[in-house]
Amino acid sequence: MELKEQAGALLESAAGYIATRTIKIGLDHGLFEVIAERGPLSSGDLAGAAGIDQLYSQVWCRSAFASGVLVGHDDNAYALAPHIEELLLNQASPAYVGGLFKVITEPEMFDVFSENLSSGKRIWWDQTSPQWIAAVGETGGAFNTRFIPEGLSQIPGAAERLAAGGRALELACGTGVGLVRLGTEYPSLGLVGLDGDAHSLRAARARVDDAGMSGRVELLHSGMEDLDVSDEYDAITINVSMHECRDIEKVTAAVYRALKPGGYFLNSDFPFPDTAEGIRTVPGRLMSGVQFFEALIDDQLLGVGYYLDLFDRHGFADTGVVELTPVHAITWAKK
Ligand SMILES: C[S@@+](CC[C@H](N)C(=O)[O-])C[C@H]1O[C@@H](n2cnc3c(N)ncnc32)[C@H](O)[C@@H]1O
Repeated sequence: MELKEQAGALLESAAGYIATRTIKIGLDHGLFEVIAERGPLSSGDLAGAAGIDQLYSQVWCRSAFASGVLVGHDDNAYALAPHIEELLLNQASPAYVGGLFKVITEPEMFDVFSENLSSGKRIWWDQTSPQWIAAVGETGGAFNTRFIPEGLSQIPGAAERLAAGGRALELACGTGVGLVRLGTEYPSLGLVGLDGDAHSLRAARARVDDAGMSGRVELLHSGMEDLDVSDEYDAITINVSMHECRDIEKVTAAVYRALKPGGYFLNSDFPFPDTAEGIRTVPGRLMSGVQFFEALIDDQLLGVGYYLDLFDRHGFADTGVVELTPVHAITWAKK
């Protein structure tokens, strides 16, 4: 590779960082919303409408245009580029990625890692900020949107079993986004959510109550490793969290025990690439970024093959994979 080419590749990464910070500023200050509602707008009009400084508005608009999230109009005005409203603002969309720009700019992603690089000090969820937990909930939300019900409908028999009622457990339920989706899609399902972090569970309780599901959803403050029931659930779900088990063998054995015969374990997670080429793709680069936080909490993302071997080792009857996007796959197993 020529020096010029190498420099170009390096600087493209720096430009991506600038795009990330520009997008985050736009999200923090509602600039995309203002343009979506009132655009096309000149930077001066945006300054007036959003209550921001004129020069700063001009700088932000130009950088957002340079990054491809705004398009320019002849009369020196800006509008959102195609699909940006859905991708950055619509949290109900399966394509929503706005949360990602919040997650990767919180200190928990890189700054704390950098501070702890020499000491190797680890942290856990109860040492993260409410902003971090909210941003993770938003990013995990898009995974939940794709998982329930669309992803589940691609697993033979799973949606039918959930629709028939019975009981389901969501492991590592976080702020309760998945529980509310399950409860909404499958109205006769009894639901239990389990999480090891008290702050996340308080947010889950509020979300479940707001959704009018107070009486239907039981919440347990517990480690996944402490799950200890037999033949209790028709399905056990988990979203972007299985890789966080402290003892994944123990949890998988407990999941197997806790399922009724024919019950489903449904694991929605990042499929970390298992090849060098895979890591060099954009999805691979994004997942390599997630590994910084995972290392801080003393784990790493895992590959699809790892999960399938794990399920086989624990005696599940059927297993399979549903690839939903390059950063999202469901690995499933039936008891
Ligand atoms: C990435 S968040 C995902 C939360 C939720 N599933 C979602 O989709 O938004 C991971 C969650 O797993 C919980 N967690 C991680 N390890 C755990 C463990 N060993 N036992 C119980 N909960 C755990 C954390 O408290 C956190 O709420």
